[in-house]
Amino acid sequence: MDYRKLMDMTGKVCIVTGGTGYLLNENVKILKDFGATVVIADMREAEDRWEKGEQAKGDMFVACDVSSTDSIRECFTKVFDKYGRIDVLVNGVTYGAGYGKGSQIEFMDDQTFFRGVDGALGTAFRGIREVIPFMRKNGGGSIINYCSMYGVVAPDLRIYGDNPQKQPPNYGAGKAGVAQLTRYAAGALAEYNIRVNCVTPGPFPNPKNQNDAAFNEKLAGKTMLGRFGKSYEIAGAILLLASDASSFMTGSNITVDGGWTAW
Ligand SMILES: NC(=O)c1ccc[n+]([C@@H]2O[C@H](COP(=O)([O-])OP(=O)(O)OC[C@H]3O[C@@H](n4cnc5c(N)ncnc54)[C@H](O)[C@@H]3O)[C@@H](O)[C@H]2O)c1
Repeated sequence: MDYRKLMDMTGKVCIVTGGTGYLLNENVKILKDFGATVVIADMREAEDRWEKGEQAKGDMFVACDVSSTDSIRECFTKVFDKYGRIDVLVNGVTYGAGYGKGSQIEFMDDQTFFRGVDGALGTAFRGIREVIPFMRKNGGGSIINYCSMYGVVAPDLRIYGDNPQKQPPNYGAGKAGVAQLTRYAAGALAEYNIRVNCVTPGPFPNPKNQNDAAFNEKLAGKTMLGRFGKSYEIAGAILLLASDASSFMTGSNITVDGGWTAW
């Protein structure tokens, strides 16, 4: 075994949903740096950001709305038609629902609640289901889902106050479901040699949202390491799960949270 090639992604085709996003673009970058062909599947509006931005570009941008099964199917078909295979799917996108008063558990209506659960959990479900036939064609693959520390523990609402970064109840409920769906899908898809794992990020606030120093200090203090994660610090876990270095890992969850959920 030549361990220096264990994480080589040459010849592998990877799709990162939401790949122009803050953390997700780091996924694009590391997979590309290790030799993969990387497709960004993101909203049509993000294409501008992709074309003009300084971010990692990957090899192709496909407009895709992960709230729609048809759109996901069309996107995966386009990628398969162009490259002849899909080896890795990073199910990255989450969309939220519930703002202001409507984000509070006693005022949230049913429709808003389920829209947010769908944004966290339905997105992972649809991605998994739709990629199966493509991965089966090449004899296997790796699916990586995104959970959150707030799928493991509840946000300490005392420190959020009115801060817009406060997550509504449907977010963590959906994310907890992602961890369980990951285990279920891993069991169901093992016979096709499709591995399914997830990552659980802790606090990685986008620097453009980090303007309240007192709040930041309190939030960062909830990690054992006493700081926020830097966006590139998610990338190692993604490469591990995408590559053959994790060939005996399925149904697992890698926590990258500075110790937030460990105490
Ligand atoms: N950043 C954090 O602190 C943090 C913490 C825990 C978990 N997470 C999880 O990590 C993942 C990535 O987070 P991020 O910070 O990169 O997010 P981000 O908000 O920076 O990026 C999200 C991306 O998803 C795209 N998107 C939104 N709705 C879409 C749709 N319907 N179809 C297709 N694309 C859509 C956006 O255009 C954007 O590019 C998410 O699942 C998030 O819940 C993030």
